Amino acid sequence: MNRCVVGLQWGDEGKGKVVDILAGDSDIVVRYSGGANAGHTVVIDKVRFALHLLPSGALRDGITCVIANAVVVDPEVLISEIDGLANKGIDVTGRLLVSENAHMVMDYHRLEDRLREEALGQHKIGTTARGIGPCYADKAGRTYALRMSDLRDLDNLSDKLRFIVQFKNKVLSAAYGAEPLDPDAILQKCRYYSQRLVGLLADTTEFLHRSIAAGKSVLFEGAQGSLLDLDHGTFPFVTSSNCSLLGMPAGSGVPAKLVDLNIGVCKAYTTRVGAGPFPTELADDIGEYIRQRGHEYGTTTGRPRRCGWFDAVAALYSVTINGIDQVAMMHLDTLTGLDQIKVCQAYKIGPEIVKFFPSNIDRLRSAEPLYQTLPGWHEDITKARNFEQLPDNAQRYVEYIEGLLGRPIRMIGVGPSREQVILR
Ligand code: GDP
Ligand code: IMO
Ligand code: MG
Repeated sequence: MNRCVVGLQWGDEGKGKVVDILAGDSDIVVRYSGGANAGHTVVIDKVRFALHLLPSGALRDGITCVIANAVVVDPEVLISEIDGLANKGIDVTGRLLVSENAHMVMDYHRLEDRLREEALGQHKIGTTARGIGPCYADKAGRTYALRMSDLRDLDNLSDKLRFIVQFKNKVLSAAYGAEPLDPDAILQKCRYYSQRLVGLLADTTEFLHRSIAAGKSVLFEGAQGSLLDLDHGTFPFVTSSNCSLLGMPAGSGVPAKLVDLNIGVCKAYTTRVGAGPFPTELADDIGEYIRQRGHEYGTTTGRPRRCGWFDAVAALYSVTINGIDQVAMMHLDTLTGLDQIKVCQAYKIGPEIVKFFPSNIDRLRSAEPLYQTLPGWHEDITKARNFEQLPDNAQRYVEYIEGLLGRPIRMIGVGPSREQVILR
């Protein structure tokens, strides 16, 4: 059985934890979009792992990890992640395949990302500064792009780098007054990347089709969240890839019809990092309560996450565009202690009542959330392992959202650890 896990909100829904759990009965776990802007947390026996490029299945013995073609790979991050796991006794090198077609994030991408954001000031997107946007821009532009396969021929790479860095230096110094980068220093780093990574390169499309034909079970791990999708999210406050499930076929070379089950992950409330409209945002004590209880600080950048009520209009939109079959709802425990909990079930935009999420941000900015208020609960639920152990009000809350999304909520998170989950 092949499954795909994707975020239904603005990222950080708990995909890492869900993937780690589902990896228990998968053979292969695949990252198909984004890059080291992702930060996926898995907590096992009180040890916390934060993965940026390696699939969250990496933590389970014997799982093959694939970084597929549409991931933008920062070789430095990948190597440090491989070494970081090795230091904790987890060796992935013998079971990791990296697409030779994946594009490489270079120093000048990270530099451009940072300088552009600084220059934009209050108009910035609030990116993770990992060079993601500039790298995908070079991919689409073709002329100045480098792929992982370029690490195989360092002489040729040397010529390409001279050509590219010369151009980048002109642009970055004219636009931002940046100091020129030295192509030789970058080439020197590439020699090391080449030594470390060339042995992992593969035609991952061929590998995935061969594996599926042999009956292996593949788990596709989405990064970011659907509302950050380049085409279907809240543009321009999005990431630079199709991080919804719609990017999975292009991102891996595997057609969507070979995926048997689409699983959407959400939190029991909503968070967002970076700029952009967020109709149910709580800029008050309740927002702060959620941030503190849920430890809502970015896994990649440490920035405080913006917190708000569950937005069923937004989540239903993601369920719809992704073709979600079932939902995993994390962080139910974080809402414990609130007397009342609100859920946004429609927007008022001007005189109109709107139920289909407007991805156009001019419309979204004027959306006023219409809430249903539900009673909260005060009991500790972190030790609940089946649905009946939850307080009545917590059960009603889950069922209410299930009704709005029209899909079963099959997994409920009651804490960060691998075992803190209710399977229904
Ligand atoms: P991802 O990017 O979707 O993988 O999510 P992140 O790892 O960036 O953020 C999710 C955070 O919530 C991490 O710190 C997880 O350890 C934590 N987490 C996941 N599920 C739960 C849950 O059910 N309850 C609580 N309290 N924390 C959770
Ligand atoms: P995971 O996989 C949350 C956000 C950034 C910014 C916007 C663009 O951990 O859920 P980028 O660096 O991609 O150009 O930034 O997208 N963003 C994320 N927010 N979780 C993520 O990944 C994100 N990846 C990017 O904060 O608003
Ligand atoms: Mg994250």
